[in-house]
Amino acid sequence: MPVPIRVPASVLPPAFAASVAEVVGATHVLTDPAVVAGQEVDWTGRFRGQTPAVVRPGSVEEVAAVVAAARSAGVALVPQGGNTGLVGGGIPGDGEVVLDLRRLRDVTDADPGSGQLTAGAGATVARVQAAAIDLGWAYGVDWSARDTATIGGSVATDAGGLRFVRNGGTRRQLLGVEAVLGTGAVVRHLPAVEKDNTGFDLAALLCGSEGTLGVITAVRLRLVAPSPPLATALVAFSSVASAVAAASALRRQLPGLEAVELMVADGLDLVCRSGALPAPFAPTPPAALLVEASDARDPAGSLGDAVGGLDGVVDAAVALDGPRRRELWRYREDHTDAIGRLGAPHKLDVTLPAGSLADFVEDAPRLVAAVAPDARTWCFGHAADGNVHVNVTGVAPGDERVDEAVLVRVAALGGSISAEHGIGRAKRRWLHLARSDAEITAMRSIKSALDPDGICNPNVLLP
Ligand code: MLT
Ligand code: ZN
Repeated sequence: MPVPIRVPASVLPPAFAASVAEVVGATHVLTDPAVVAGQEVDWTGRFRGQTPAVVRPGSVEEVAAVVAAARSAGVALVPQGGNTGLVGGGIPGDGEVVLDLRRLRDVTDADPGSGQLTAGAGATVARVQAAAIDLGWAYGVDWSARDTATIGGSVATDAGGLRFVRNGGTRRQLLGVEAVLGTGAVVRHLPAVEKDNTGFDLAALLCGSEGTLGVITAVRLRLVAPSPPLATALVAFSSVASAVAAASALRRQLPGLEAVELMVADGLDLVCRSGALPAPFAPTPPAALLVEASDARDPAGSLGDAVGGLDGVVDAAVALDGPRRRELWRYREDHTDAIGRLGAPHKLDVTLPAGSLADFVEDAPRLVAAVAPDARTWCFGHAADGNVHVNVTGVAPGDERVDEAVLVRVAALGGSISAEHGIGRAKRRWLHLARSDAEITAMRSIKSALDPDGICNPNVLLP
């Protein structure tokens, strides 16, 4: 595959600049370094790059014209939505033009009968959630960056989130996509029907492809039934092992289980200090689970009964009303911000087989300390999915020894090096730990076919 011309970050090829300005309008081509600076750095602050321009198309036709211009000028593109990604996958590496998709934010063709809607790539996850509720349904994926993260970015990374145990990840919600491939072709398959097995599932292929095959411009989503009344519990455990065992027991016992989120003592203390929250338990327990479950008749009763039957519980708080439930959720959702305030974290978003999860969480700080004695390790995550976010602070952005140690251990235990954030720039060196040579070769062949000039997000995913 030809390598696209790496345009020096300060130079936009004049022919490309002129044709793109004609397509999207000069006001939607931003070149002032001060204006584009925020779109050159990722949310964590760990990954930075440079771009000669941010281009803001307003329709799929405009995206197609920009891709065509990029092909002829040999300019690489990086699609960007809310820039909430955590692996450096949505920012320029060295001179790619940023394609800001947030003007494509319409929600259309909502169908209350089938529980489906179409959303522009730039619609925020919160906007999609609100549209689904207006329709009498719900959108099945949710996480704390909902107000900023866009649906296009969530499809490009196959985002998981807080409701995976109930609804699965983004790929499961996806019925079809509209996208501009790296060839410039517009593929549009936004079916109004649920059952559709007409050949290759391009939507599933583009989901998780991190912008390497083309630019997603709209998605057709299947919605889920709204939850019956919910109860939320914050449950303190005597050990990480008992919390992890409880997550598994709850999956078996509570048909209305919506979320099971793991926290450990250090993270709970940090969140309380950072957000001036009252300590939920005294003393801080070694581990806690945030559990949410629905029940049409008695949500607090059924959740309370299930929690009461778990081993290792030392304390619990249960909430039924919205404001109190939101207070409990803060102990979990505030982890990302509280850790981010300590400096740019290394975020290692991994999944472990159920039998290895507790030992891995207990051992992670030692594993990190062996290669970075001054670092701090923060573990939290989605216990029911075996997905733990190992966040490490106090390590230079480019020092990858910690990443290497953690990812190699995860692979040795039979886990995945990327559960829900994607590979991006952060983990491309280690893709071979998760995928065989034959699989990576197949991925390269698909990339060559759909992006023959290599202009689609060339600095991510594939090593
Ligand atoms: C979360 O589960 O809160 C998100 O994946 C964000 C993070 O890992 O910081
Ligand atoms: Zn997560």
